[in-house]
Amino acid sequence: SLCFENALQNASGGRPPTPLGARILTNPEDIFQHNMWDHVQWTEEAKEEARQKTNENSSSRIPSEEQGKYDTDACKYWDSFYERHQDRFFKDRKWLFLEFPELLPSGPGGRATEERDSFPGEHAPFRILEVGCGAGNSVFPIVNSIKHTGAFVYCCDFSSRAVQLVKDHPDYDQSLCHAFVQDICDEVASFPFPPLSLDVILLVFVLSSIHPERVQGVVNRLSEFLKPGGIFLFRDHGRYDLSQLRFKKGRCLSDNFYTRGDGTCVYFFTKDEVHSLFSNAGLEEIQNLEDRRIQVNRAKKIVMYRVWMQSKYRKTLPAPS
Ligand SMILES: C[S@@+](CC[C@H](N)C(=O)[O-])C[C@H]1O[C@@H](n2cnc3c(N)ncnc32)[C@H](O)[C@@H]1O
Ligand SMILES: *[C@@H]1O[C@H](CO)[C@@H](O)[C@H](O)[C@H]1NC(C)=O
Repeated sequence: SLCFENALQNASGGRPPTPLGARILTNPEDIFQHNMWDHVQWTEEAKEEARQKTNENSSSRIPSEEQGKYDTDACKYWDSFYERHQDRFFKDRKWLFLEFPELLPSGPGGRATEERDSFPGEHAPFRILEVGCGAGNSVFPIVNSIKHTGAFVYCCDFSSRAVQLVKDHPDYDQSLCHAFVQDICDEVASFPFPPLSLDVILLVFVLSSIHPERVQGVVNRLSEFLKPGGIFLFRDHGRYDLSQLRFKKGRCLSDNFYTRGDGTCVYFFTKDEVHSLFSNAGLEEIQNLEDRRIQVNRAKKIVMYRVWMQSKYRKTLPAPS
């Protein structure tokens, strides 16, 4: 049901309040003791079963003549999504600072904005961009953590409704944050900051919603905006996550890429794919891991295999001359 699909998508932002790796299942009999177990190793059998279940419903593809709209109208589908769900769908990404402490500036503070700024955040010593910010479930935890640090947050989404939700949020503060509408697949996209100006680019469940053939271009273009030493922080759906297995027949667009009932799309990444994506753009790996967990519905005694990708890639510093 769509409801279940929503619950899975929603849970993908959910994380236990414990850091990654805090709960390791050593005794299989303990499985129903917690809602979530970390660093789950899949047996070859489990992997094969996941592959088969995926193939079961992915073999029939949506005909190519019907596929175009999911790409050309992607923005409309997401706009309708936010019209329908407003800010009620995704939960705040509470795990952000546990997994991505790089979001907090470590250098000396400063003033995020000044009267004489020629662009928002020009004088901030530390600048973050979130791409595909949606209703702000990552932006506001960040905004509320960087007060008085001098850091500044930009965020964009191609859904103007999403951007409006961010701007209407009670915590939206123009001295710390600038939200704007931008399609990052647009090759001539214009951004309110110059190249080489960002310390962090945050990509949380956004690259998966973009057509796989466009993703490399997006990463290449975005990386132009990172300072040398600047970093991409990425978290997204992983290959053979339960939500991939559960796609019904007739939803598959191409290998590991699907459209949901509402027209929004989702791709499921492997570790190798994530690595080539960022290294092809000339970035160096800091972290690239497959976050495999078991989620347990204790009431119904259901065991669910979840897979997310979590990666950090840095723009290398120029070689000393
Ligand atoms: C699954 S949501 C995640 C939202 C948010 N990052 C969060 O963590 O709650 C994906 C978001 O990416 C946005 N998006 C998808 N394709 C985009 C594009 N080409 N340019 C800008 N935003 C895009 C969608 O509008 C949607 O808000
Ligand atoms: C595949 O799709 C059918 C309906 O088209 C559904 O009944 C079945 O549960 C799906 N398979 C998996 C593994 O979810």
